Amino acid sequence: MSKPFYITTPLYYVNDEPHIGHAYTTVLADTLARYHRLFGDDVHLLTGTDEHGQKVATAAEKLGRTPQEHCDITSQKFVKVWSKLGIEYDDFIRTTEPRHTKIVQQILQQIYDAGDIYKKDYEGWYSVFEEQFFTEKDLVDGKDPISGRPVELIRETNYFFKMSKYQDWLIEHYEKNPDSIVPGFRRNEVLGFLREPLGDLCISRPKARLSWGIEIPWDSEYVTYVWFDALLNYYSATLAPPDGKSPAWPAQYHLIGKDILTTHSVYWPTMLKAAGLEPPEHILAHGWWLAKDAAKMSKSSGNVVKPLDLADVYGMDSFRYFLMRDMVVGQDANFSEENVVKRLNSDLANDLGNLLNRVTKLLDQHFGGVVPDVEWDDEDPLVELSKATTHKVKQFVEDIQIHAAIEETLQFVRAINRDITEAAPWTTVKTDKEQAGRDLARAAEGLRIAAILLAPVMPVMIPQVFERLGVEADPHRNWDDVEWGEKLAGRTAKYGDPLFPRHKKPESPEAAPKPKSESKPKKQPKPAPKADDGLISFDEFKRVDLRTAVVLAAEPIEDTDKLMQLQIDLGTEKRQLVAGIKQHYTPEQIVGKTIIVVANLQPAKIRGVKSQGMLLAVREGDNLRLLTPMDQVSPGLRVS
Ligand code: ME8
Ligand code: MG
Repeated sequence: MSKPFYITTPLYYVNDEPHIGHAYTTVLADTLARYHRLFGDDVHLLTGTDEHGQKVATAAEKLGRTPQEHCDITSQKFVKVWSKLGIEYDDFIRTTEPRHTKIVQQILQQIYDAGDIYKKDYEGWYSVFEEQFFTEKDLVDGKDPISGRPVELIRETNYFFKMSKYQDWLIEHYEKNPDSIVPGFRRNEVLGFLREPLGDLCISRPKARLSWGIEIPWDSEYVTYVWFDALLNYYSATLAPPDGKSPAWPAQYHLIGKDILTTHSVYWPTMLKAAGLEPPEHILAHGWWLAKDAAKMSKSSGNVVKPLDLADVYGMDSFRYFLMRDMVVGQDANFSEENVVKRLNSDLANDLGNLLNRVTKLLDQHFGGVVPDVEWDDEDPLVELSKATTHKVKQFVEDIQIHAAIEETLQFVRAINRDITEAAPWTTVKTDKEQAGRDLARAAEGLRIAAILLAPVMPVMIPQVFERLGVEADPHRNWDDVEWGEKLAGRTAKYGDPLFPRHKKPESPEAAPKPKSESKPKKQPKPAPKADDGLISFDEFKRVDLRTAVVLAAEPIEDTDKLMQLQIDLGTEKRQLVAGIKQHYTPEQIVGKTIIVVANLQPAKIRGVKSQGMLLAVREGDNLRLLTPMDQVSPGLRVS
């Protein structure tokens, strides 16, 4: 029997325009859903919009609309963006739909009847932006601790849910289920939060202050607090799905950003417990897309990237590819258009696109496009690698490490490219056509498998790859199809314009404006001495003293994001250096390792710490990897 895989995105507030952050979570959910469909699981993907609350009421009023009109218009914006980004959801729920409001009232009544809801006078600091009350001590500089927005002191009589009653149960639940919140450090954060006594949750708003909400079933003076309402969508949607095919509660995964971890990991499971329902199996809290200045992208900070703007420039699938590959799930990631171009050029144009072009072109030129029917070598390392790759990809996807699943697939693509370069069928075809045919069929078969593994990420472009390889364009495949076989024998491959073209580096807005063509050229920048063609002489190279060194000790430098202080053994002397590797390595990972350092760099003080030298590393996307010698060598040797 196929495994249920009920997965959800947050319900986005309708007052916002869809932006890259919303797009990320939703594309992640869709990609995961597509992978699980490929594995044969019974997938149900839910998304939708969160439509009640003060923010929506205020936004509607400003525009001279009724709240419902406003919601009808703005929720459509999300529907449209998701359709453009190829999101195959099974259900889109709106919290103003009767199928939802009815269940919210039922559950409220049930919890009230059970004695877990009571009325009391209350005073607290309310953030309209996050639609949450905070206590005095929660505030940061008198502002909302999540968004940094103003809060107002509100005093009123309200209904409260006895959340505190379930604190011990919740702690036990998280202790017993280590993967209930991923990544694990987020679970620790929640457990840390739960060490303090948990208050009760204010779950109503007097209509006199706010009427845009679901009425409290036993008291028509009040509406339901927007979070108590919105969270219940994940459950209410299981009772009345549009096509009648209901996913079973509990959900396997709630995908959320780290901004809404508390509501999902504390409010939600205690609400469910009080209603006699199971908690969700897993909550995945991912990081934030940050703009260049390390600020979270959000509408309020005015630094949002509209997903469709970029998708229009680079293509929907390329944009999906960038989002999925460049963010390490769980960590924050920096967004810049330059990073988009780098990623697309390296992975899609150079690796995947190049392989497709070479294979289809040579088949076209020498075999009339027809993929030869060849006998596979049982011990072919590429066949082995293909098996290992598919196995690892599945594992990574099951752990929601989508970036790693993609990288694993690209490694496989690069291996096929290397083999083709080595076999050089463009040469051998003249002397041994059969061999050249074998090499091309093998590369095409590898590419077919890689394409299946990438289809969940690029559901529009991969079908075109399939077509070029002469197979059905439908992006959906079965897991059996990733097995190495004769699937392409006799099919006609098609050669055509590159599907994954190279993109030009975007013009940076900070770059100095170019002089207008009619104005006389200003003073030309001084040419670098002897740098005519960018080449350096051997003597110049020799001036850089690169040496091997062993890391003796490493310690993160406090109050810095990136810096680590290293003690190294340079053979003849010991030195200290400061390196920006804190986010990439723990001290344990590098102590004892042999690295390469520039030994004759002028000493510098970085954040007050002396640094004598610089280590060598490469950066790939957000990852930084240290360079080390391939085999064990002594410290202090000169690199030549
Ligand atoms: O919080 N980077 O809705 P919301 C990554 N209605 N993801 C981001 C992001 C960024 N810079 N900005 C937003 C709400 N997101 C509630 C949810 S659920 C029952 C109710 C994504 O419109 C991320 O998934 O503010 C985040 O959790 C969500 O959008 C917040 O969307
Ligand atoms: Mg928000």
